[in-house]
Amino acid sequence: MKNLIRLLSLLTVSGFILTSCEGPRGLSGKDANETCKECHSPTVVDQKAVEFEFSKHSYGVVAEEEAGNTGCTPCHTSDAFKYVCANNIPATFTLNSTTGKYSNNYVSIPSKTLGALTCFTCHSSLHTTYTADDFKPFTNTAPVAMTMWKGAKTINLTQDGASSNLCIKCHQPRPLTTSTSTSNGDVVDYDALAASPTTVFYDSSVGNAAPNKVIPSYRTHVHYGTVGAVFAGQGGIQFAGSVAYANSIHTTVASCAECHMSEITGKAGGHTFAAKGNFTSCNTTGCHTAPITATSTTYWLTTRNEIKTLLNTLATKINAVGGATAILHSEPDATANVWAGLTTGNFDGYINMYDPSTNPGGVWRNPAPAGSWTTAQKAANSAFPLFPTLLNATMGSMINFQMCLREFSLGIHNYKYSKALLQNSIEAMTAAGY
Ligand code: HEC
Ligand code: HEC
Ligand code: HEC
Ligand code: HEC
Ligand code: HEC
Repeated sequence: MKNLIRLLSLLTVSGFILTSCEGPRGLSGKDANETCKECHSPTVVDQKAVEFEFSKHSYGVVAEEEAGNTGCTPCHTSDAFKYVCANNIPATFTLNSTTGKYSNNYVSIPSKTLGALTCFTCHSSLHTTYTADDFKPFTNTAPVAMTMWKGAKTINLTQDGASSNLCIKCHQPRPLTTSTSTSNGDVVDYDALAASPTTVFYDSSVGNAAPNKVIPSYRTHVHYGTVGAVFAGQGGIQFAGSVAYANSIHTTVASCAECHMSEITGKAGGHTFAAKGNFTSCNTTGCHTAPITATSTTYWLTTRNEIKTLLNTLATKINAVGGATAILHSEPDATANVWAGLTTGNFDGYINMYDPSTNPGGVWRNPAPAGSWTTAQKAANSAFPLFPTLLNATMGSMINFQMCLREFSLGIHNYKYSKALLQNSIEAMTAAGY
C-alpha cells in the first residue's frame, strides 16, 4: 500500500514535470519525456514497484522501528545503508583507552538513520544519466567484511557481477559481544569456543560477575540475517569433527538474485525477493537440468530432512544442558516465529530465560535482573531455577544452531557447510557429556 501511494504520487508528479518543465536535455539525443519512459513504463519501474510491495524489504516494519538508531540502521534504513557503503565504514571494534571498553565502529551517524528501503537503496545511480544504465550500479558490490567477526573475515562472492555482496552487506550475522560491566565489551573469541570446547564459558555459580564475560539472556544471539554467512561458508563456530568444512556448488556458481529474483512465480521471484514456492530458478538453463520440484527427493526433500534432523538432534543436546527443563525457547506461532516448523520443537534460536518485556513466559532465572523491574517481577525471577553453566561447546553450538536455523532453507543455501557445522557441533556436545 505504501508503494502504491508512492506510485500514484509519482505518476502525478512526473506528469506534472513533463507538462510543465522540459527536464534534462542532451541525453542521448532524446527529449526528457522519452528518457523518462525508458523506466517509467508499465513493464519497467511500474511492474517492479508492484512486485516490491510483496517484499518484506517494503512491507517489513523494522526500518520504521529502528529509525534513529545508528547501530541498527546500517542494515535497516536506506540513509544509513548508503552512508556505511559510501564511506566504507569498517566492521572493526576500537578500544577506548580511557574507559577500557570496546565499541563497534560499524555504525551510521545521527543525521543518517532514516528511510524505508526503496529502489534507491540498492540502485545507487537512479536519476543520474536518465538511461536504463542507471539500474546497474548497485550500492555495494565490494567484498563484505563480516561485522560478526569485527572484520577478521571477509565474504566475497564474485559470480553474477558480485550482486550477492549487495545482499550480504545486510544479510549477515551480527557480533556477540561481551558485557561492558563484567568485561570490556569486545567481541566473543569465537576461535576459542571451537578450540577448547570443554572450557567453561559461563559459570552459573558466579552469575552476573567477572570472570563471566557474557551474561546469558533471552537474546544472546548473532541476530537474524545469518544467510550470508552460511551461504558463503564462513563465520560459523568450526568445531573439529567427522565432517570436513566445505561448500556446496551454490556458493560459487549461484547468486542470491538468481534464486530469489528469477521470473515471477505466484508471490515469489522478481522484486518480491522471495524464494518460497519458486522452483523456476533451480531449473534455469545452465543450472539443474533434471527439473527440481517440491516433491524431488535428492535435491529437495532428502537434503532438507537431513538438515532438519540434525537441527533437532542438536537442539536436544543443547536442551540437555538444562536437565529436565529445555533452555531453548519455542514458539509455534508462525507470525511470531518466522522459523516455526523448521524444527520439531519450533525453536527460534532464543534462550527461554525470563525477561518481563521480551520473554515474560521464560522459565529460567535471569542472572541480571534490571533495576527498572518491579518488585513483583524480581520476585518472579528469583523463583525460577538458576540458569545452568555453559561450556564453550554449548555456546558455540547455540551460535551454529542459530546460523543453520535462521538461514531458513534447511540446507538448500549451502548443504555441505550446514551439515558440517551441525554434525560437528553434535559431536562436540557428545564429547562434552551431553
Ligand atoms: C533509470 C530509470 C529511470 C529513469 C530514466 C527515470 N526514472 Fe524516475 N524513478 C525511477 C525509479 C526506480 C523511481 C522510484 C520508483 C518507486 O519508488 O516506486 C523513480 C521515481 C521518480 C519520481 C518519484 C520521486 C522519487 O524520487 O521517488 C519522480 C518524480 C520521477 N522518478 C521522475 C522522473 C522523470 C521526470 C524522469 C525523466 C526526466 C525520470 N524519472 C527518469 C527510475 C527512473
Ligand atoms: C539495506 C539492507 C538490505 C539489502 C541490501 C538487502 N536486504 Fe533483504 N532484507 C533486509 C531486511 C532488514 C529485511 C527484513 C525487513 C523487515 O523485517 O522489516 C530483509 C528481508 C529480506 C527477505 C525476506 C525475509 C523473510 O523473513 O521473509 C528476503 C528474501 C531478502 N531480504 C532477500 C534479499 C536479497 C536476495 C537481497 C539482494 C538482492 C537483499 N535481500 C538485499 C535488508 C536488506
Ligand atoms: C548487519 C546488518 C544488521 C544490523 C546491524 C541489524 N540488523 Fe536487524 N536484521 C537484519 C536482517 C538482514 C534482517 C532480516 C533477516 C531475515 O529475515 O532473513 C533483520 C531482522 C530484524 C528484525 C526482524 C526479526 C523477525 O523476526 O522478523 C528485527 C526486529 C531487527 N532486525 C532488529 C534489529 C535491531 C534492534 C538492531 C540493532 C540493535 C538490528 N536489527 C541491527 C540485519 C541487521
Ligand atoms: C534490495 C535491493 C533492491 C531493491 C530495493 C530494488 N532492486 Fe531492482 N534490482 C536489484 C538487483 C540485485 C537486480 C538485478 C537482478 C538480476 O540480476 O536478475 C535488480 C534489477 C532491477 C531491474 C532490471 C535492470 C536490468 O538492467 O536488468 C530493474 C528495472 C529494477 N531492478 C527496478 C527496481 C525498482 C523500480 C525498484 C523499486 C520498486 C527496485 N528495483 C528495488 C536489487 C534491488
Ligand atoms: C540456490 C538457490 C538460492 C540461492 C543462491 C540463495 N537462496 Fe535464499 N533461499 C532459497 C530457498 C530454496 C529458500 C527457502 C524457501 C522455502 O522455504 O521454501 C531460501 C530462503 C531464503 C530466505 C528466507 C525467505 C524466503 O524467501 O523464503 C532469505 C532471507 C534468503 N533465502 C536470503 C538469501 C540471500 C541473502 C542469498 C545470497 C547470500 C540467498 N538467499 C541465496 C534459495 C536460494
